[in-house]
Amino acid sequence: MRRLLVGLLLGLALAGCPDDDDDATDAPDDDDATDAPDDDDATLGVEPVTVAVTLDGEPVADVTVGQGGDSERWLTDASGQATVNFDFGVDAEWIVIASAPDARLGGAFLSHPPPADPVPIELTSFDDSDNPEYVFRPPGNPPEIGSTEFCNHCHRTMTEDWDASPHRSAASNPAVHDLYAGTADAITDAGACADAGGIWAEGLGPGTGAAAERCYLGSGVLPALNEGCGGADPCDAVATEFGGCADCHAPGIDGQLGGRSLLEATGLAYDKGVHCDVCHHVEGIDEEAEPGAAGRLRIVRPSEAGSPGMGEFQPIMFGPWDDVLSPIMGAVQRTFFEEAVFCSGCHQQEQAVLLPGESIDTTRWPSGRLPVHTTYEEWSTGPLGAGGSTCQDCHMPLDPDVTNGADLQKFDVTPGLAAGWPRDEVHGHSFVGPRDADAGLLGLVALVTIDAAVEDDEVVAQVAVRNGNRGHFVPTGEPMRHLLLQVEARCDDALLAPTGGHAIPDFGGALATQDSGGDWTVWPGAEVGQVVRVVRRTAGLHDYPGWGPFGDGTFDAAGKGMPVDEPAGFSTITAVDGDTVTFDAALPAGDLAYLGEAAALPDDGAPAAAVAGAPGFGFARVLVGSDGSRMVPHFAAVDVASDNRLGPDGEWTSEHRFAADCAAPEVTATLTWRQYPLGLARERGWELTEGLMRTTSSTAE
Ligand code: HEC
Ligand code: HEC
Ligand code: HEC
Ligand code: HEC
Ligand code: HEC
Repeated sequence: MRRLLVGLLLGLALAGCPDDDDDATDAPDDDDATDAPDDDDATLGVEPVTVAVTLDGEPVADVTVGQGGDSERWLTDASGQATVNFDFGVDAEWIVIASAPDARLGGAFLSHPPPADPVPIELTSFDDSDNPEYVFRPPGNPPEIGSTEFCNHCHRTMTEDWDASPHRSAASNPAVHDLYAGTADAITDAGACADAGGIWAEGLGPGTGAAAERCYLGSGVLPALNEGCGGADPCDAVATEFGGCADCHAPGIDGQLGGRSLLEATGLAYDKGVHCDVCHHVEGIDEEAEPGAAGRLRIVRPSEAGSPGMGEFQPIMFGPWDDVLSPIMGAVQRTFFEEAVFCSGCHQQEQAVLLPGESIDTTRWPSGRLPVHTTYEEWSTGPLGAGGSTCQDCHMPLDPDVTNGADLQKFDVTPGLAAGWPRDEVHGHSFVGPRDADAGLLGLVALVTIDAAVEDDEVVAQVAVRNGNRGHFVPTGEPMRHLLLQVEARCDDALLAPTGGHAIPDFGGALATQDSGGDWTVWPGAEVGQVVRVVRRTAGLHDYPGWGPFGDGTFDAAGKGMPVDEPAGFSTITAVDGDTVTFDAALPAGDLAYLGEAAALPDDGAPAAAVAGAPGFGFARVLVGSDGSRMVPHFAAVDVASDNRLGPDGEWTSEHRFAADCAAPEVTATLTWRQYPLGLARERGWELTEGLMRTTSSTAE
């Protein structure tokens, strides 16, 4: 007969992560201390086990109890007791667990037969104040597994997947730093900086906190929001207004949470961005608060003194499960981890106008705020928000290659306290998105159909773009994202000249723009081979079904801010003399002329090209600055001019006309996703990802 052993798990064992080449490490074996099941237990079955749970010494009702590794749960009664149907036939340690929202998970080892008396489990409330003295723990650098200090030591698959995601690079992303400080860090010497029109000056180096020379070029959060600095006197070290960037991009800066400068992110906070120890110290979501760390994300870093070998403070880790007993975790269950609202912590942002002296048009924006990131609201008010797939389902898809959250499949150990339990469903941590070309998400989303016919000597094509992503709008997230639809018609190999229909808006990219008052033969800096595209601005306005007030009837067509531009044609530059250019053919008449480049599609492998004014269309949330400039970064926005992004199941049909000189011209429509506005990316020297979403061809008859 076996002896019953009951132990409070916390502090009972120092759980190390089992090592691949050392089966025995921390794996409980068949000794008195843990009484793990062995072959004799195969005949054992389910038996009732009563537990008695106390919280801070008092019996406590409504605590969830059950068997570790099994999903069935019971609630304690007023006397703190509940009876669990415990399966002694499992090939795992026999542990009853208790989970209360205010305490680290508790549990007790059982042996067989179970005792007649209730098995005590003592829970202790955790200190729910945040501790600024706590130092965030490192995820680790895969493939190195490091010591148990690193999450990667045990959570190998998750750390590897997360390490490749934009969450990891959120605080070190050069584009974020450039917009923050008003720099082009891709330019690394004074001469090149001057050539680009920038100012080479000493500021602070991203990630180091130390003085560094940088190329100050273009707008930035710090120079725009702080007075008395900028230009040759960079704001980096003297700014007091930080624009909130670090709250979402660098939430793991030790010390005071929230309200920090992105340039304070050094070490882990810089290298690892939105990392494990940040997300898993989120104790609650305050939907009313500002997004980010210490706002919408209520973060609790542990305060209780740790025990030897367990770190300075007693670990605490919030997560979706209620039966993780590893003392190195100090796990507490929070079910919001499985809910989209968790992601709203950083993927939902309405922002006041940040520029000093500028104000918002409250007739358009009564709340006084502009929508910047609305992914969560797009989801919650969309078809899946009422109970369909969550953000996690699509961006943290279930990983069939792991058997539990800590890679149990890699270790030859008995499931239980140290290694965790086998699980049917483990959410991967890839946070896949459009920037991961291999994941192919972009190709899944949009449908493009062409309905083309030849009428007299014109080919007329109706091109419908449909968002098949029921999760949210496309594009979503960062407002710099946009979709471009490029439409071409050919007779044999010859490109047909556009005669009407719709044109790609300005955000398709232009090297220069002139209105009808300009001299369209003068284009400073133009090169042979570039094209000038002319559009006619009609009196019409696109009355599209866009996001929020752009789609719910609040704004009329004028308020939706999208004039109907028709492509009038284009000419290619064949010679340049000073600022004056010669074309291969006379330019057509029109209202706007864009200097651009021959169309390049991502499947050519060619870099993104300036294609404003070409036949096609575009989808974007267009933020405008105080001087009317369009597609500005959100810190500089005073209004949203238009937002014709496509909602879930949303569809938009554009029309395209070309002069046809053959019987059966072929029409091709290509839809691409662009990461940044082309001009901004070129100004700052950013690598711009352009993703192919769909290309479709149809022969007109
Ligand atoms: C509410 C949280 C939040 C705040 C505050 C925030 N961002 Fe972001 N930012 C995001 C998210 C989320 C994304 C990614 C969305 C996506 O992929 O579409 C992002 C993306 C970006 C990108 C594009 C990154 C790339 O390489 O594609 C840049 C640049 C950027 N942010 C700059 C800033 C700057 C500068 C600030 C401060 C003015 C700022 N952000 C404030 C959440 C935030
Ligand atoms: C039904 C699956 C699905 C759901 C649910 C879903 N997404 Fe997405 N999401 C996608 C796909 C597919 C893409 C890539 C194509 C696109 O941009 O639509 C994407 C793109 C994104 C992007 C990058 C956008 C860009 O252009 O940079 C972000 C950020 C994002 N999702 C966040 C979220 C958040 C936050 C939620 C929950 C509020 C969510 N998603 C819900 C499927 C989903
Ligand atoms: C010594 C091994 C080890 C290390 C190191 C480790 N964990 Fe864990 N962790 C585990 C085990 C085992 C589980 C349970 C896995 C299971 O049952 O699926 C777990 C579970 C979790 C959970 C789920 C908790 C719940 O209740 O849902 C989270 C979150 C987590 N770990 C985060 C982290 C983070 C963040 C780090 C690094 C700061 C880390 N872990 C380091 C072993 C470890
Ligand atoms: C952006 C926030 C975020 C980051 C960063 C993050 N996690 Fe998670 N983690 C989650 C969410 C959300 C879940 C719950 C997913 C679900 O169950 O729907 C989760 C679940 C888990 C679980 C339980 C497994 C499961 O499938 O539920 C473990 C273990 C875990 N995370 C460990 C880690 C580790 C280790 C890292 C760093 C490599 C990490 N997390 C980084 C948000 C995050
Ligand atoms: C602490 C803030 C924070 C939280 C919480 C957070 N994110 Fe993010 N997320 C970001 C930032 C910042 C970026 C953009 C980083 C960059 O590009 O520099 C981002 C980017 C993304 C992307 C873009 C990937 C791509 O390829 O473009 C996806 C998808 C995403 N997050 C999904 C999620 C999901 C799902 C959740 C909830 C489980 C979540 N995020 C929670 C801050 C956060």
